[in-house]
Amino acid sequence: MKTPVHVAVTGAAGQIAYSLLFRIAAGDLFGPHQPVVLKLLDIPSAERVLEGVGMELDDCASPLLHGIEVSSDPSDVFDGAEAVFMLGATPRGPGMERRDLLQVNADIFSAQGRALDEAASRRVRILVVGNPANTNALIAQRNAPGLAPECFSAMTRLDHNRAIGLLARHCGCNVADIARVAIWGNHSPSQYPDLHHALVKGRPALEQVDPAWYVDEFIPTVQQRGASVIAIRGKSSAASAANAALDHMRSWFLGTPKDDWVSMAVASDGSYGIAEGLMFSFPVAVENGRFRIVQDLPLNAFSRERLRLTEAELLEERAMVSHLI
Ligand code: NAD
Ligand code: LMR
Repeated sequence: MKTPVHVAVTGAAGQIAYSLLFRIAAGDLFGPHQPVVLKLLDIPSAERVLEGVGMELDDCASPLLHGIEVSSDPSDVFDGAEAVFMLGATPRGPGMERRDLLQVNADIFSAQGRALDEAASRRVRILVVGNPANTNALIAQRNAPGLAPECFSAMTRLDHNRAIGLLARHCGCNVADIARVAIWGNHSPSQYPDLHHALVKGRPALEQVDPAWYVDEFIPTVQQRGASVIAIRGKSSAASAANAALDHMRSWFLGTPKDDWVSMAVASDGSYGIAEGLMFSFPVAVENGRFRIVQDLPLNAFSRERLRLTEAELLEERAMVSHLI
């Protein structure tokens, strides 16, 4: 048996965690031969719920689950962690935008960034899911100067999956027939779901769909999907968010296919003219556990303008939390 990987999950008593933890314990993150230790963080008032989640994890009797540690102290939970899912944050309700949560959730990410700096493995891979995810990831990263910026990412994989699902349904094909969809920018309505490089059954997607459908239906549907789920379900996406978080981490640890990429919000290195340091979603490829932003994709005027708009929103969000970074 291999040495267990220590996986920390914040907001572990919440709804996304309830869809995530059991799948990690079942091997959906690292496969059927890699044991894990789960380190669960929530606030003291969630202690009883967390205890119940721990009981249910025990009752799954998973041979891969080599331990469960529960705490309300981030330093305990991040100690030695190699994978960290940061879910712990207040979700939005109907009528709110994700950025309305910025001031509510920002303090969580500065304090937990400091705790990561102090306690996590230097090789840790951190995924911020709590909204507004990109700017929360930026806050955490800036509060952890002892960790490389490449340790941090924010989740746009749910948007990526939504885009692939929608395109597949529209084209009447399987999601496996689709490649090279990209989400650029912020996990917000300003994000840019880009089909200019996408392939459906190996042929350019934009030769197979009506351009008006792409601009007037596809892009706004993906941008607004989170709000649509809240309006219909009454709560924000949870199972699909947990699924996307697993996809994100699995791609980061295990790599991406040679002829495809995934979307991840990572610290900009200036690629495509995006301001350095912003946590911006790019198409990324992963090899040997390291991601790289896919380079040299041609961007037409339409795409450049969309990138500029979502970058402007992230710059505004960064200015709103300048006191924390
Ligand atoms: P939830 O309210 O069900 O759970 C959040 C949990 O976080 C709660 O148990 C709460 O007690 C805990 N928490 C609050 N403050 C904490 C702190 N300081 N430390 C540790 N835990 C803390 O919410 P949820 O539905 O699980 O969603 C979690 C977050 O993920 C929300 O911000 C939501 O908007 C976001 N989200 C992001 C995406 C994405 O694609 N990036 C998708 C879905 C949801
Ligand atoms: C989503 O995209 O489903 C999440 O970010 C939740 C939300 O507030 O939309």
